[in-house]
Amino acid sequence: MAIPEEFSREYIDRASDDTHLYQAVVTSKEPYRSLARRDFHQSADHGFSHKASDAPANSPAPGLDLDNPQLYYNTDGAAADYWRDKDLPKPERDINQLRRDLAEWGYCLIDQALSPTQLQRMSARVRDQAAGERKAGIASWMGTEPVPGEKLTTTQFVHCLINKGEQFLHCVEHNTDGVQAAHVIERLVSESIGERFLMSSFIAIITNKHNLPQALHQDQAIAPFQDMAAPYTCNTMFILDNMGPHNGGTLVVPGSHKLLSAPGTGQPIDTPLPPAINLSAPAGTVMIFEGRLLHGTGVNRSDAARTVLVMNSIKPFMRQQELHLFSAHSSILENASDKLLYRLGAMPTGLGGIEGAWNGDRLVGQRLAMEQGNYLAVGELSPHSSKQELAQNFGYRHSEVGTRQAPHQPEGAGKNPPTF
Ligand SMILES: [Fe+2]
Repeated sequence: MAIPEEFSREYIDRASDDTHLYQAVVTSKEPYRSLARRDFHQSADHGFSHKASDAPANSPAPGLDLDNPQLYYNTDGAAADYWRDKDLPKPERDINQLRRDLAEWGYCLIDQALSPTQLQRMSARVRDQAAGERKAGIASWMGTEPVPGEKLTTTQFVHCLINKGEQFLHCVEHNTDGVQAAHVIERLVSESIGERFLMSSFIAIITNKHNLPQALHQDQAIAPFQDMAAPYTCNTMFILDNMGPHNGGTLVVPGSHKLLSAPGTGQPIDTPLPPAINLSAPAGTVMIFEGRLLHGTGVNRSDAARTVLVMNSIKPFMRQQELHLFSAHSSILENASDKLLYRLGAMPTGLGGIEGAWNGDRLVGQRLAMEQGNYLAVGELSPHSSKQELAQNFGYRHSEVGTRQAPHQPEGAGKNPPTF
């Protein structure tokens, strides 16, 4: 069928000059374009991303050059010198000091956020789960590049922790039964991104000897805005093994949350960034770091695996990394509190609903019906549809909003389903 000429691709291309809407922002690739510049950063000549091909062919750690202090993942030399006399966050319990650290450096460390018993229980559960998933042939290997010649990276992720132990649900609900510092964590995350935050993903990250380092990144880069005012996302990282440069404690560039956002969205960074350091903290510490902080997985140089749990929280207008409504076991959803359902995105307030059940509706019924093959979405209807078609057992009839409105429907005799 012919369409008006102005609507054709050819016409649109011909009529469009070089200035496209918001082109500078949409195509800027900042801040990573700036970060990738060679000879730009202090103590990180090759930027903040790793190329295994830059490592010597005969390196004892394939794909790595552990002796070159100019690489961002080697932090013992010039990087350590740079940060030595700075007042970087140390494990703390006082909320005011934690607030100051989060504002100043983009992260804070909560001392003994897990009690010894909580730490032991959590470590044992994660270790068992990870071993079980390896044995079942369903382990997930991701987050860092494989060393040259290998098919899989040595970094194991355990996804969707909410299904894998009660203590992980306590982390999501900020229940002190699972995490003794839960109220401090909840307060700091709420102050950073607002009380109505969603849990985006909750995973274990287990690095093994000589994993390649992760490129440094901002977690909230998925929202491509650099905003000086406040972050959009916030991470809670549960440190389950003593962590430091020896086992690839998370690489961070302290203060980068301000340095990257100061130039503004889509703008290049002109001031060299300071070097990255490996985080050092004892097992049981919880690190909170906000979405603008530059960070990445460091290189584990030890013989022992190193485990952290990372929970990402986001503002409710953003998309969750994990589709919890789909991934959660039905028993978790059936027994969940409203607080847990909200955090999982299963009780949306405006976004992420099912067939218009958006506004505070619990979506558990829909999920269970789909699981049982009983969910029927509303398709094409008209007043001329047959009675059988109109009276179908649509999933919407059983949604909270559908049930609420059914008695007041102007047609359909106020019955759900209607009688004719
Ligand atoms: Fe990250």
